[in-house]
Amino acid sequence: MKTIEDLDVAGKRVFVRADLNVPLSDGRITDDGRIRAVAPTIAKLVERGAKVVVASHLGRPKGAPDPQFSLAPVAVRLGEILGRDVAFATDTVGDSATAAVAALAGGEVALLENLRFNAGETSKDDAERKAFAEQLAALADLYVGDGFGAVHRKHASVYDLPGLLPHAAGDLIATEVGVLKKLTEDVARPYVVVLGGAKVSDKLGVIDNLLEKADRILIGGGMAYTFLKAQGHEVGISLLQEDQIPTVLEYLDRAEKRGVEFVLPKDVLVSADFPDLKGKTPATFQTVDADRIPADQEGLDIGPKTRELYAAKLADAGTVFWNGPMGVFEHPDYANGTKAVAQALVDSDAFTVVGGGDSAAAVRILGFDETKFGHISTGGGASLEYLEGKTLPGLAALEG
Ligand code: 3PG
Repeated sequence: MKTIEDLDVAGKRVFVRADLNVPLSDGRITDDGRIRAVAPTIAKLVERGAKVVVASHLGRPKGAPDPQFSLAPVAVRLGEILGRDVAFATDTVGDSATAAVAALAGGEVALLENLRFNAGETSKDDAERKAFAEQLAALADLYVGDGFGAVHRKHASVYDLPGLLPHAAGDLIATEVGVLKKLTEDVARPYVVVLGGAKVSDKLGVIDNLLEKADRILIGGGMAYTFLKAQGHEVGISLLQEDQIPTVLEYLDRAEKRGVEFVLPKDVLVSADFPDLKGKTPATFQTVDADRIPADQEGLDIGPKTRELYAAKLADAGTVFWNGPMGVFEHPDYANGTKAVAQALVDSDAFTVVGGGDSAAAVRILGFDETKFGHISTGGGASLEYLEGKTLPGLAALEG
């Protein structure tokens, strides 16, 4: 894979495909980690006199402009982080984008509006996607892929566009791939994996693969209840994917045969009501053993015995990969499980990797010092698919 050092960028229009898909609340960015992560690549290109055209998706608009998914607030924040003006085009391949790119001098930056405002970006039809990629290619001379969080998507700007322009990987992708390679090829043991988040179906591929590599797998978050149910426990009205029970049972069986320690919550915080995430009014909950969840209640975080157990299971780790919060961390009453795991990683001497998405945002939102982790990935789905052993379209395209 070429890097930006291999490209002669001075005076050239360089299209940077970033992943600036940041969480927004009432139009305000609640976690700017992804913007900060790609800023060094943009700054490097600016320094070398490139005309930098940055593009990204945000959220999942339906192929047409939708103001709630505008990248306008991101342009402002990117400008603040870079310490320079960032022009904002109000479309992606229309008059505004063409004018913004034409106005760039060497060392200047423009951000295009959300790529997913065009149906061609995410189209399953190769010709439709390619047609959109050709429109994007007309805006640039060179392509830099640095949107690690989107490399698992076969989308026009990720997969088709690099084939139309001389291309290279940006520094963020180079770093992310280096870390994930280390997790697949060269792990210090014990290798402990912590998986959480809502849906067990999102994690099946990675569990399947990690059963061959990890020494210990700790489960939390909404997905834990499908495991508890599979073991015959009552889970009340907790998140449950009943159709996944046979697969989950097979994994538990394989883990036992392979000597992989599979650890499930011992106790959980339960409530009849989902918490108020906006006003954050105090929640009403109780702590129960994981095999005693009342029929009319749902599990919303791991309990104190589980926090202690998971911290102990992480203490002697040589390598840790963590993806997915342990509970509804957005509410302070249900953030302690996620905090305990984050703290155990901070306290550990292991090489610790936080795999993107919600767990990366949680670490920052809960106030942990990012430098205390080995690596915080910007890609949730992307890092999981990499660890599943899948070919990622955006990386394959950069290699071509
Ligand atoms: C992410 O947040 O995981 C990436 O930005 C990809 O977004 P997507 O799941 O909407 O494709």
